[in-house]
Amino acid sequence: MLEFLPLTEADFALIYPIEQAAHRWPWSKANLLSCFGPRYLNGLLLQSGQPVGFYISDLVAGDSSLMNICVHPDWQGKGLGRALLLDYLERSKGKGAEAWFLEVRASNQPAIALYESTGFAEYCRREDYYGTGNDREDAILMSRLFAFN
Ligand SMILES: CC(C)(COP(=O)(O)OP(=O)(O)OC[C@H]1O[C@@H](n2cnc3c(N)ncnc32)[C@H](O)[C@@H]1OP(=O)(O)O)[C@@H](O)C(=O)NCCC(=O)NCCS
Repeated sequence: MLEFLPLTEADFALIYPIEQAAHRWPWSKANLLSCFGPRYLNGLLLQSGQPVGFYISDLVAGDSSLMNICVHPDWQGKGLGRALLLDYLERSKGKGAEAWFLEVRASNQPAIALYESTGFAEYCRREDYYGTGNDREDAILMSRLFAFN
């Protein structure tokens, strides 16, 4: 059974292992912990009571930015990332979001395909935005500007 819950700072211990397992370059504890507070809208996904994914976003004056979304690798490819993203879009719309923004590594094709299939489109590319030295890659900035039912 899938459950979508608001994600609070008290859930940090549940999401940090998912963050570390899912991302090649995970956020630090401090970075994650800085993303709780009034302007944030964060969500947690449980599968039969087990935490399997989460998202972190903010919402300012109708603009929502999706800052992080991930599903534990053991649970990827089963539709949960799409379900989480749709929960994010619905919840943020309910709180007043009218436009959605995110940025993603150019190499992250699974995420880009997911975003495109839910109405996001590239509006800008920042060259060599991520990484250091020779190991650099572009950031793709995507937006979703139309209203939805
Ligand atoms: C991106 C992510 C959240 C997707 O979660 P998921 O549960 O695996 O995704 P789903 O099973 O719901 O698939 C949704 C869509 O994503 C895309 N997708 C998922 N895996 C893919 C893959 N290996 N290759 C290409 N596209 C893929 C497809 O468009 C898929 O839709 P479809 O099944 O109709 O073809 C997950 O891969 C993840 O956590 N990645 C690591 C963290 C990350 O990169 N987050 C995004 C940047 S912050």
